[in-house]
Amino acid sequence: MIIKGTTQVYAIFGHPVSHSKSPAMHNAAFRHLAIDACYIAFDVEPHMLKEAVYAIRALNIKGLNITIPHKESVLEYLDQLSPEAEVIGAVNTIKNQEGSLLGFNTDGRGFIQSLTERGISVCGKKVLVLGAGGASKAVVYSLLKEGAEVFIYNRTLDKALALIRQYQSRPIELVTADRLSDKGFVGSMDIVVNTTSVGLQDNEMPIAKELLLSKHVVCDLIYHQTLLLKSAAERGCVTIDGSGMLLWQGVYAFEIWTGQKAPVEVMREALLSDSVT
Ligand code: ATR
Repeated sequence: MIIKGTTQVYAIFGHPVSHSKSPAMHNAAFRHLAIDACYIAFDVEPHMLKEAVYAIRALNIKGLNITIPHKESVLEYLDQLSPEAEVIGAVNTIKNQEGSLLGFNTDGRGFIQSLTERGISVCGKKVLVLGAGGASKAVVYSLLKEGAEVFIYNRTLDKALALIRQYQSRPIELVTADRLSDKGFVGSMDIVVNTTSVGLQDNEMPIAKELLLSKHVVCDLIYHQTLLLKSAAERGCVTIDGSGMLLWQGVYAFEIWTGQKAPVEVMREALLSDSVT
């Protein structure tokens, strides 16, 4: 890629961000489509977020991804939100439209597509969601939109209750710790999704292994093979890690920015061959 005077800039804001695979994925897509653009990572400390967002306009950065810990705090600096981002209360994609900053959330859609491409539909399915943080909010929004029945467990009960309150008339229920260890209840689920950070840096399980049945599809938003996914595979479950969601949220972001169809397989290959973890 040759950086010229005409090269348009895309970026990700996060903290930390050096581990991000998004630059590899989006630069590969720009290269493949011969788009004169580059994508770089900016480590933005929380107290500098406001200034960083103002710089988007000043420097004419065309599009951004926003990642941890800025997905929620960035909202107040944007000009407009998509209905999805508004309900979820978090933004992972910004489009700079002639100085107007539009916020989107492609995480939930990305999650659904990572299941769809494996031949799994969530419509009419009972889905147990572990966690009620930012990632969970995006996943729950899309699950409900696609017609799933959602059951939420969270270590901190109040956060699960707050999420449920947002969707009063929708099929969404609280799961208590007792229910989470009930064989009959867990056995009645079709899909189990871990959105917590349990298993990210430790060898912990967010749900007991013996409750997993071969009928379950078990998903983890974490990109690597967690103990949950390993255990689920041993129990005969179909398992899906977070790499598909990472790919597809990026595909949808790319299409929002460029208006062009994203080269999905090129982006998938770039993610696979990016050695930074
Ligand atoms: P993200 O944006 O990745 O979802 P987050 O908003 O900080 O991050 O949410 C983290 C989620 O992981 C929360 O559901 C959190 O549970 P609490 O609300 O009780 O904090 C969950 N989580 C993190 N560490 C956990 C642990 N050791 N055991 C159980 N849940 C944990």
